[in-house]
Amino acid sequence: MQFHFEPLAENVFLNEDGTKVCILDQTLLPNVSRTLKLQSPEEIREAICQLRVRGAPAIGIFAGYALFVLARQIKTQDTQEFLAKLHAYREYLVSSRPTAVNLGWALERMEKTAVENAHLPVEEIVCLLGQQAVRIQKEDIEMCRAISENGLSLLANGAGILTHCNAGPLATSRYGTALGPLLLGKERGMQFHVFCDETRPLLQGARLTAYELQKAGIDATLLCDNMVAAVMQKGWIDACLVGCDRVAANGDTANKIGTSGVAILAKYYGVPFYVLGPTSSIDLSCKTGEEIAIELRDPEEIRLKFYREPMAPAGVKCYNPAFDVTDHSLITGIITQRGVCRPPYTESLAALFENERGGET
Ligand code: MRU
Repeated sequence: MQFHFEPLAENVFLNEDGTKVCILDQTLLPNVSRTLKLQSPEEIREAICQLRVRGAPAIGIFAGYALFVLARQIKTQDTQEFLAKLHAYREYLVSSRPTAVNLGWALERMEKTAVENAHLPVEEIVCLLGQQAVRIQKEDIEMCRAISENGLSLLANGAGILTHCNAGPLATSRYGTALGPLLLGKERGMQFHVFCDETRPLLQGARLTAYELQKAGIDATLLCDNMVAAVMQKGWIDACLVGCDRVAANGDTANKIGTSGVAILAKYYGVPFYVLGPTSSIDLSCKTGEEIAIELRDPEEIRLKFYREPMAPAGVKCYNPAFDVTDHSLITGIITQRGVCRPPYTESLAALFENERGGET
């Protein structure tokens, strides 16, 4: 098949003949840089479940390319049969992680492209799916840039910043969301002192955020998650910047487990707490955070992972939620590509979508 689009060279990309979706395996960072080329539905789903590709926007971008790769494997000229198989792949992938809305959002957008073009031959529909996947990624690049500009407008040169988990280029495209203002500011000659929570149990802060900041030449200090109060008490933090996996209509925000605790401490110490994310992470169909499904993960991630031997007795009960919900009352502002939303969020978030006429960003 000839491509009718120009594949992008990013951290999620297609191989030369468009038969595989490629990612940098994030589970191996920062020690090993290995690119995976994925083709079967099972290995694609496993990559999402195991966080080889992770971060809400990156999962969405990956899902777009993955559905294109899988669509190419459907061997039929019958459009209805093609659509039924495509739908089955969508269902299979969407069940891999429940919290980040971008996964379902991207898959829905891909399937809609196919359904709306059901009058065309299968081969042409597949081509349109490729174009749609590239568009999702291009839009994310633009959105991250705009989020970075909007976030940077709130930061002073020399500021002390606290961040949790990883919401940098690895989790998105190029700048990232929560790290975007810092990377953009650095390009413009600004200085920041960034404190990265290690982010137990999977250490996205230590392994990925510290790595991205170091690579960019930004002053970064790693903290254990339980050290946030101590650095805030010292007055070292001027603002908290975090990403988001799903924002409810009232501003309640699901993000990596531990985010809510950081927001509570920020309120206590009078530190502004900002959530940064694209409008594709806002889910107005969830009225409050109570409606957001929180992913529960393998207990062994707490008991064993990254240790040479288990650090808790075998069989001990473990509770391992991947995300928590930060109450909207703790959030100073939600920074999107379309501007900064302030409380009351039921009004400011709804206003973001008011002028949308079939637009996709
Ligand atoms: O479980 P992860 O590593 O996918 O969780 C990621 C986060 O919580 C990020 O903060 C969020 O997805 C925003 S990424 C721009």
